[in-house]
Amino acid sequence: DWTMEDYKNTAISAVREKVGQGKVLLALSGGVDSSVVAALLAEAVGKQLTCVFVDHGLMRLNEGDEVEAAFSKWDINFVRVDAESRFLLKLAGVDEPERKRKIIGEEFIRVFEEEAKKVGAVDFLAQGTIYPDVIESGAGDAAVIKSHHNVGGLPDYVDFREIIEPLRLLFKDEVRQLGRELGLPEYLVSRQPFPGPGLAIRIIGDITKEKADMLREADFIFRDEIAKAGEDKNLNQYFAVLTNTRSVGVMGDGRTYDYTLALRAVTTSDFMTADWARIPYDVLDKISTRIVNEVKGINRICYDITSKPPATIEWE
Ligand code: XMP
Repeated sequence: DWTMEDYKNTAISAVREKVGQGKVLLALSGGVDSSVVAALLAEAVGKQLTCVFVDHGLMRLNEGDEVEAAFSKWDINFVRVDAESRFLLKLAGVDEPERKRKIIGEEFIRVFEEEAKKVGAVDFLAQGTIYPDVIESGAGDAAVIKSHHNVGGLPDYVDFREIIEPLRLLFKDEVRQLGRELGLPEYLVSRQPFPGPGLAIRIIGDITKEKADMLREADFIFRDEIAKAGEDKNLNQYFAVLTNTRSVGVMGDGRTYDYTLALRAVTTSDFMTADWARIPYDVLDKISTRIVNEVKGINRICYDITSKPPATIEWE
């Protein structure tokens, strides 16, 4: 019979023994898995760890600052790369979903590679592979790489001796529990899934900074009202999508011609199938009223009432 505290202590000792005086490099996305690995390594080897956090400018409101703040209590090398303009430049005029993913994946690798070079020789590359990833990859050997559809082939271009994957035996719930045990804030460990390409695949059509800002604000209001209503515990994923449709509206004495925003919220156990969530009408009403009043450029809100299948959870 073991507790998560025992597991934490054992894992820390094991990492220390393996790493010795070596240097460890980790790509931190701010998702649950990479955050928990980062915290575990920070606790185990401190300054020998370099976390590279690539901010592609397509994260949710305040997300970059929150991730940075969560790691400020450890004495590690925390590198936050503000790469917003680089990514937006590469994405300008691109409206095809898979091309967006490919561009972001490739640019991510380039940025990460540049940072890795600055760090110099590393001995270990750490990854947040968890047990379900291991099963999915269908292999038991030590070097199974997490096949993140957005971060393909990551380790090829970083020169390192070995991969370390301290979460390989844990299920998601256990990873969250370990994160709590390591002192990560609740908003990080209980975070809903967020796709690697971020808001890029939630802005239908071409991406601009203005659209990203609009979506960020609307998405924040949506999440804020869901939390205030206590609905977050009933939902597995919920977010806003900025459609590329504009429609006519009235505001005061004037006519508007602004964007339509879609709200998506689902319940699911495995994200392979999902049911659209029955959010109470009065909560939806409040969200809609706030968004059209507070976010300039949006004048109409739709609620997505399609399950998966036939729709996917994301719109792209
Ligand atoms: P779909 O839209 O396929 O999404 O029903 C299922 C789950 O996967 C997430 N998702 C992604 N995650 N990179 C990611 O890291 C991606 O390109 C990507 N596309 C979808 C989605 O948010 C949902 O949780």
